[in-house]
Amino acid sequence: MSAQELRGADGEPAGAPIRLVAFDAAFDRSVFDCGEQAVNDWFRRQAGQSHRSNNARTVLAVQGFAVVGFYASRVGTMERGEVAEAFGGGRGRYPMPAILLAQLGVDVRSQGRGLGARLLVHALESFLAVADKVGVEVILVDALTPELCAFYRKMGFRSLEDRHLRMFMPVKVLRATFNASS
Ligand SMILES: CC(C)(COP(=O)(O)OP(=O)(O)OC[C@H]1O[C@@H](n2cnc3c(N)ncnc32)[C@H](O)[C@@H]1OP(=O)(O)O)[C@@H](O)C(=O)NCCC(=O)NCCS
Repeated sequence: MSAQELRGADGEPAGAPIRLVAFDAAFDRSVFDCGEQAVNDWFRRQAGQSHRSNNARTVLAVQGFAVVGFYASRVGTMERGEVAEAFGGGRGRYPMPAILLAQLGVDVRSQGRGLGARLLVHALESFLAVADKVGVEVILVDALTPELCAFYRKMGFRSLEDRHLRMFMPVKVLRATFNASS
């Protein structure tokens, strides 16, 4: 194995533990690359501003001083039409308070080792804690590609019938899932 292979991003030891920490601008985001330009651009250019303005909360996965993954979330709304599509016409009289998983990315050098799933579980756990204190009925995510729907489906998200990339999970289902596994 070469010295390069023994070291991860930014020369950190590849075997160092990965920690999930609250957003901290001191971590260098400029070299993060998850392979999706739009996700990279948001993380490199907008995560800091979004954090300062309380527009989004970002959690970092860090290995030493290197950022190897992240997710970001904010409150959102499931519009009446979407509510009707997801839960039946009778429910569609009002929009639903929601939390949106707005961004998720894992650096290409760390993909395929379970970090994306770990970040998603961490996000869902923290959304549940919010839902214990603030009214939230549903978790939303917009999958970037049809293939990614499978990734979210495994965690319990379902697609809207007409817009497959928009996925949702009722907080009731989320709570039952976590209660069953704890
Ligand atoms: C999607 C992403 C976060 C997954 O991260 P990861 O660390 O590679 O994922 P994991 O190793 O935790 O994989 C978890 C499971 O999801 C599956 N999966 C991962 N990426 C997938 C993809 N792009 N499409 C379909 N399935 C995928 C894995 O095969 C694995 O399945 P398994 O449990 O049956 O083995 C990562 O590939 C990424 O950053 N992609 C670019 C940015 C992006 O698309 N973000 C999502 C925006 S909605």
